Amino acid sequence: MDKTKALNEVYEELKTKRLYDDAKSFVPGEGSPNAEILFVGEAPGQKEDEQGRPFVGAAGKFLAEMLEGIGLKREDVFITNIVKQRPPNNRDPLPEEIAAHFPLLQKQIEIINPKIIVMLGRHSMSQLLPNVGTISQVHGRPFRRADGRVYLPLYHPAAALYNAGLKDTLISDFRKISLILKKLDKEQKDLPKE
Ligand code: URA
Repeated sequence: MDKTKALNEVYEELKTKRLYDDAKSFVPGEGSPNAEILFVGEAPGQKEDEQGRPFVGAAGKFLAEMLEGIGLKREDVFITNIVKQRPPNNRDPLPEEIAAHFPLLQKQIEIINPKIIVMLGRHSMSQLLPNVGTISQVHGRPFRRADGRVYLPLYHPAAALYNAGLKDTLISDFRKISLILKKLDKEQKDLPKE
């Protein structure tokens, strides 16, 4: 499959799903089409709307620092959101807005085929990993789902920026990503060969 072409088709489809009249751009997400790790946030903010890119404001800077902390760059992973336009005044997206854009995320997951999906915040978690508890109960705990992928819920970096306790927790939860990747690689190697 030509993943870049398939992701562009998702972008074209997104443009037919405008949610807000005053949003300046569509923010489909960016990164490696072959990423092993997919990050899913909530919705673009002002900076993201201005640039048409996900996580480029203060929360994005913090995300990039945490990635660097585990030896990764933004270009190594794929970063996107549940809702791919900026809600007015950064309000929480409504359930029907989430429902309108969620199929696009599902297509991105199929195309990229990541091993790990990291959910940033409760909106992302409630869509991708429903019924496992609240984010304060399960943050940092990996879940293997029927599709074979590992789903890791984390606090949202924007929430952690304003709460020192959450920040430390997020940084330590974030380090689990490299442990999970190592485990998955080992699992792959240990599989009996044909
Ligand atoms: N917060 C999000 O959830 N997504 C972004 O892209 C930026 C900030």
